[in-house]
Amino acid sequence: MAFRDRYTGLINRYRDHLPVSDDTRIISLGEGNTPLIRLKNIPKLLGKDVDIYVKYEGLNPTGSFKDRGMTMAVTKAVEEGSNAIICASTGNTSAAAAAYAARAGITAFVLIPEGKIAMGKLAQAMMYGAVTIQIRGNFDEGMELVKQVALQAPVTIVNSVNPYRLQGQKTAAFEIVEELGRAPDYHCLPVGNAGNITAHWIGYCEYSAQKGTRVTESCAFCDGNCRYAGGPIVGNRPVMIGYQAAGSAPFVRGEAVKNPETVATAIRIGNPQSWDRAWKVKEESGGWFDELSDEEILAAQKLLAQREGIFCEPASAASIGGAMRDIKTGRIPEGSTIVCTLTGNGLKDPDTAIKQCGDSRMMTIDANISSVKDAILGNM
Ligand code: F0G
Repeated sequence: MAFRDRYTGLINRYRDHLPVSDDTRIISLGEGNTPLIRLKNIPKLLGKDVDIYVKYEGLNPTGSFKDRGMTMAVTKAVEEGSNAIICASTGNTSAAAAAYAARAGITAFVLIPEGKIAMGKLAQAMMYGAVTIQIRGNFDEGMELVKQVALQAPVTIVNSVNPYRLQGQKTAAFEIVEELGRAPDYHCLPVGNAGNITAHWIGYCEYSAQKGTRVTESCAFCDGNCRYAGGPIVGNRPVMIGYQAAGSAPFVRGEAVKNPETVATAIRIGNPQSWDRAWKVKEESGGWFDELSDEEILAAQKLLAQREGIFCEPASAASIGGAMRDIKTGRIPEGSTIVCTLTGNGLKDPDTAIKQCGDSRMMTIDANISSVKDAILGNM
């Protein structure tokens, strides 16, 4: 590949579709361009004729899809003269904010719920040099505090209430359409704050609109004034399905959840910031929200690792776990092409992984050849 073709991140790749100019200094770590992996073994296990792909967002620079949004949010914060960014986070946003702030040479303040974020994520925020503020409270409380403090201090919020975040994250949908040659029939995502499901829908709508189609009947995102509006709806767009953890499933309950609880700490959110937009996505795409128990989430995480060799974090596994259930019941019909977003890398949360592998084939033996032989022969 010629040097000029070197991949330099999603803003450069999709700059025509993003709010940047030729003069914008781009803050990038080479995010995006993640693999879309076709599952081989799980469809066989299900005994159904379906094509399932996983978009492995855990291979982004800080190990989650948040990098897509953060490259845009930090690029624009710097362009607008900001010297500091702030976010509340269940862990991945703080890791991404910390890394991109380091890259830009600005300060990141991150508010995280004490004791409720996975170790890998905490290590990232600290290592990248963010001012790491643990609160005795949950994500929703942290989010409210961040919104208040941003009104009083010169810091830019980089949670997904920052519109540039969703602009960056919509590029995942672009990549999927380009790789499959069309949009999938169904797109399954874990839902917390609901920014990502919204961003994907924006991406799919814009992509189909490129081909001369109208974005939506009444676009939730631009009120019909964007450059994509106009003309009949003919492009294919997926049905969007959002899966939540049963202990923190406000979209399933139809209202905010006061004390959300789940092993999937990334989506331990009771009061989603993109509430209205996510309902609009469901409506416009003909999709639905559903919930999984913690046991179902962990079982899906393990199945994906042990049958396909793909290690995602617990929250991410809600997408594949939910898809498998809906395929089994026929709600997702045979013949469908399905994409599940694996939002974060399994290495983010080693504690939960090790804890649920008590029955694993790990052992400790003496360092001699006969013990090794026994260990091998006993497990053939
Ligand atoms: N999966 C993972 C691994 C996440 O970290 C998040 C959100 C989601 C799914 C849900 O995405 O909020 O756009 O619906 N994590 C945020 C954070 C809240 O602070 O890292 P969403």
